[in-house]
Amino acid sequence: MVWVMASVLLWTVTVAVLAGGGNLQPYPQRTVMTDFNMTKYLGEWNEILRLPNVHEESYSCMQDVFSLAPDGTTKVLSHAYNVSNHAYDFLEGVATEPEPGRFDITYSGETVWSSSYWVLATNYDAYAVLWGSLLEGDAPMPLAWVLSRQKTLGEEYGTEVNQVLRNNGLQRSQFEGVDQTNCPEVTTADN
Ligand SMILES: *[C@@H]1O[C@H](CO)[C@@H](O)[C@H](O)[C@H]1NC(C)=O
Ligand SMILES: *[C@@H]1O[C@H](CO)[C@@H](O)[C@H](O)[C@H]1NC(C)=O
Repeated sequence: MVWVMASVLLWTVTVAVLAGGGNLQPYPQRTVMTDFNMTKYLGEWNEILRLPNVHEESYSCMQDVFSLAPDGTTKVLSHAYNVSNHAYDFLEGVATEPEPGRFDITYSGETVWSSSYWVLATNYDAYAVLWGSLLEGDAPMPLAWVLSRQKTLGEEYGTEVNQVLRNNGLQRSQFEGVDQTNCPEVTTADN
């Protein structure tokens, strides 16, 4: 998921608002999974591959946990390990589904901000491929991830995932691996 640090938050959100935010269609080739079912998507997702982006440069061990809160909202707890300062960073947000195949996550901390995600594909049990939207300067910043229920993506899904990427004008070679090995234990004291 997108990790926006405080320093870039304000202008990023401002630019997004000025440009129309979530209504923007930055990826013309996108084929969205319009029968996406958030209930089946709940649970743990580990980032396996991502398009390189400045917001996640020094992060490894990124995981998002989607859960249904007692009030009926979908909560998203994320953590990522910053290899530069050897500490986990945490985010807590609320996911909403403004249209089929898309969810937005709104984070409310010192600054309220949100990001949009389009589900290109998921089989719910093993992998998911997402497009993300955040604006970088005047141009939408390309963001995409391949996620897995496990810390690795089973080889049997490689062909399927590559096909999804191709169907959306992406290539596997554009992606970088997200290190999910030897992740330090996440302690509640950090949370
Ligand atoms: C979504 O998945 C849940 C759990 O499998 C199921 O109960 C529900 O009917 C599904 N919703 C739709 C709209 O298909
Ligand atoms: C990771 O930690 C370093 C050192 O404290 C810091 O400069 C950097 O901004 C952090 N990276 C992110 C993406 O927050």
